[in-house]
Amino acid sequence: MCNNKKYYITTPIYYPSGKFHIGTAYTTTFANTIKKYRQMRGYDAYLLTGLDEHGQKIQDVALSRGKTPQEHVDEMADAAKKLWSKMNIDYDDFIRTTDKRHVKAVEKIFEKFMENGDIYKGEYEGWYCVPCETYFTPTQLVDGKCPDCGREVTKMKEEAYFFNMKKYQDRLVKFYEENPNFIEPAFRKNELFNNFIKPGLEDLCVTRTTFDWGIKVKGDEKHVIYVWLDALTNYITALGYMSDDETKLEKYWPADLQIVGKDIIRFYGIYWPIFLMALDLPMPKKLFAHGWIMMKDGKMSKSKGNVIYPETLIDRYGLDATKYFLLKELSIGQDGLFTPEGFVERFNSDLCNDLGNLLNRTIGMINKYFEGEIPDKPNDLTSLDTSLEKFVLEEIRIVEKEMDEAHVSNALEEIWKIISRTNKYIDETTPWILFKEERIDELKNVMYHLVENLRKTAIMVKPFMEETACKMFNQLGIDDNRLTAWDSLYEYQQYKKELNVVKKGEPLFVRLDLQEEVEFLKNEMKK
Ligand code: ME8
Ligand code: MG
Repeated sequence: MCNNKKYYITTPIYYPSGKFHIGTAYTTTFANTIKKYRQMRGYDAYLLTGLDEHGQKIQDVALSRGKTPQEHVDEMADAAKKLWSKMNIDYDDFIRTTDKRHVKAVEKIFEKFMENGDIYKGEYEGWYCVPCETYFTPTQLVDGKCPDCGREVTKMKEEAYFFNMKKYQDRLVKFYEENPNFIEPAFRKNELFNNFIKPGLEDLCVTRTTFDWGIKVKGDEKHVIYVWLDALTNYITALGYMSDDETKLEKYWPADLQIVGKDIIRFYGIYWPIFLMALDLPMPKKLFAHGWIMMKDGKMSKSKGNVIYPETLIDRYGLDATKYFLLKELSIGQDGLFTPEGFVERFNSDLCNDLGNLLNRTIGMINKYFEGEIPDKPNDLTSLDTSLEKFVLEEIRIVEKEMDEAHVSNALEEIWKIISRTNKYIDETTPWILFKEERIDELKNVMYHLVENLRKTAIMVKPFMEETACKMFNQLGIDDNRLTAWDSLYEYQQYKKELNVVKKGEPLFVRLDLQEEVEFLKNEMKK
């Protein structure tokens, strides 16, 4: 552990085109969990999120709401911040592409690209997808429609500025050869590399004249800088790039982990590294592309009536249960499914049965057998204790490894193995028989190990579910900072004398009625 190590994590900056659904909440929660973990490991972790506020789509949405684009994005920024605060997202900065600091820097970046001959003026003709704000070549279209969203495209021609991507082709290929693990998961990298990079890059059109809600090209103001150049650069403008104060840039850049959904990997895997090469800035260390949260009938959309909002889940089931579901349901890089049944079942089995009951049973037994007093660390271990300890200590290393690689769903799975193993230990040791037979030393051993494993569990779930972790520490009567720190995981600890569990433990999670809740959630999705 090292106190001056930094860790810079970013989320995509989201389009403020509508209310955020659980997909957007997923990415942000994921990033926040990694931040919390890194902090516990002693890093100076910095989390950036924000909004991508320019472009045709936002202009159209604002118009349809009878607002100016600025009024619209201001409202959306407030709503986004409110949601992140409700979700306890501990971001360090919230960048908006309409921020003056960002606009000024993007103007300078564009000028720099012009000066270096990276951007030139030409004419563009192509198939344009308005919702995706992307031009496609005829061969990229799928059945004549947008390859990304499947909607209609329109043929458009305009005078435009281009970024000379071809110039960086070789350097990009070399970068991928030298950094084969830059994108995770690997299959997404291979897809991108084989389908888009290897066949040869096309120059990228980086301005538009078809709308005016955006950053204008200085001296040629009918051109608006295309959203992806505007958007991607937020990760450095937020740190003060090209401003009077670049301290944060020097401290935090390059990013250690950029989390994105699989839908936008192309922009981060091709254009972003090239922009950085052109600016002579170092490459991010890792780009993590997660999958999508899907509904039974495909992607969430309002017209299908299958959208679920984070607020709905949080208000009814609590923040921690909501986060747990999201982070558990998407395994590395893969899509995950939201179903009302799946949500309720996971809640009942993982949170109530496995975790909640383990805590509750432990508190109950310690109160019954030892009047709430946690027994001391035993001197002699039984073979059951030894094998339990060995298992748990090995698991802790696995959890760490998974968290280091941002494999949050795997990490949860490993933590739950500790919970299951500990539940099994109760069945193996049968404390109620030990009590009946007055084998008090053995009974003490068992209680001590239950508390220790619960304490360890609380530490490891803390980056995911802070409130739950705190409740666990509380019920166990543990308030010593040394015993809640990550470093305390590696040993079976000695508690200070006369440590008491609470007299009456509150259940961490209250069992849900499957039928009732499924009905509730189905109704919510139709709203
Ligand atoms: O693409 N499941 O913004 P956006 C999981 N402004 N994640 C999902 C999801 C789902 N069903 N739906 C959305 C943009 N996401 C650009 C980004 S960054 C320089 C510019 C998440 O509002 C996921 O992270 O469309 C995805 O990449 C992002 O939201 C897209 O957000
Ligand atoms: Mg999108």
